[in-house]
Amino acid sequence: MPTAVIRTAAALRADRRTLLLAAGTVMSAFAIGAAVQTAWVFGNQGGDVPVLARIGANLTAVVAMLVILAVTGVSLPQRGALTMSAGVLGAGVTASGVRFASQLLLDVYVDPPQRVIVAELASGATVAWIAASMGLAAMLSQRRLRLEVTNAAQDRLRIELALQALQHEEVRVRREVAEGLHGSMQQRLVLIVARLDGLLGGLGERATEADLTILREVRAEIETVREADVRATSRMLYPDQLEVGMVPAIRALLGRIPTAVNTRLGVTDEVRVLDDPTASRLTRSERLLAVRVVEEAISNALRHGRAEVVDVRVSLVDDSLELRVSDDGRGFGDEAGVPSGTARLADRLRLAGGELRVSSVPGDGTQVVARLPVESLRTAPL
Ligand SMILES: Nc1ncnc2c1ncn2[C@@H]1O[C@H](COP(=O)(O)OP(=O)(O)O)[C@@H](O)[C@H]1O
Ligand SMILES: [Mg+2]
Repeated sequence: MPTAVIRTAAALRADRRTLLLAAGTVMSAFAIGAAVQTAWVFGNQGGDVPVLARIGANLTAVVAMLVILAVTGVSLPQRGALTMSAGVLGAGVTASGVRFASQLLLDVYVDPPQRVIVAELASGATVAWIAASMGLAAMLSQRRLRLEVTNAAQDRLRIELALQALQHEEVRVRREVAEGLHGSMQQRLVLIVARLDGLLGGLGERATEADLTILREVRAEIETVREADVRATSRMLYPDQLEVGMVPAIRALLGRIPTAVNTRLGVTDEVRVLDDPTASRLTRSERLLAVRVVEEAISNALRHGRAEVVDVRVSLVDDSLELRVSDDGRGFGDEAGVPSGTARLADRLRLAGGELRVSSVPGDGTQVVARLPVESLRTAPL
């Protein structure tokens, strides 16, 4: 059972409105219905019933009940069950008293006998109490609903924040490891190669030609590891130029593709503004995800599609980045292997509120379209 209560001004107004509206509607229906019924019953028996005066007295009672409910602050969030019950009962009793006084004033009764007084007071109080209680019930259920909605929204926010923190942490770790690989590991490999060079130079006649060949091969292998493996792994973790921006990182990616493949990059002006290196509106995780989509699509185009032309377009659709990568490769149909790279990225995009679609016609190339919502555009458009 939720105990916290929401105390915004709008919520307070809404609570009071529901209480008064529900209680007032129920009581007014009674007020008019009962008067008309009395007039009809007694009229059929030949009596003369002042129906308008009865309705007038009853409606005065409605107003009295609403005033008491309003001034005793039954709808205030700090009111406990006891105070609320007392307020509702007080409103019922007061309304009944006001009603009977009005009936006397409007000459509905002239010098009524005691059983009429008791009957009018008791029935008036009961009806007004029921009406006020129904108003209270409507208000409390509205309050409970609002609390549930707020709790759900808070849960969502917590999950979103946790996810953001996780993405942030992922980017940080990736960058650190990439820098470690790129920096210190490369340096050490450079030093090892330099020592090998020294050794090779100093050995001269003392080593056999076979030993020297092996040493040269080892040296070449270390160079390859340094150039290809360490650099490539570092880039895989954290793309080149990502610190500068998403577009520079995509351009760097395209720049490494063999020149036999024709690559094109189209970026709209809006995206350039968004990706401004001096004031980027894209978070590092958004940039990373965008570049990884392009990276995966290009590597699929070259590896599976044997494409000769790859076209990358980045634009803004509403408040999302749209990345389109098309190739002229072999395409694929139902026979394609189990998607792994693309499916993983599609999951990531879904988590970020976006999506990834791949369409392909065998023999006629492949198109990858990804949509990635940009957080900063949700709060402040360009
Ligand atoms: N651009 C493309 N051209 C041709 N085939 C593709 C292309 N992209 C994906 N495919 C096919 O879809 C399969 C799944 O791709 P993907 O999810 O990236 O997994 P992986 O690259 O690990 O095989 C690939 O094995 C390939 O058969
Ligand atoms: Mg792949």
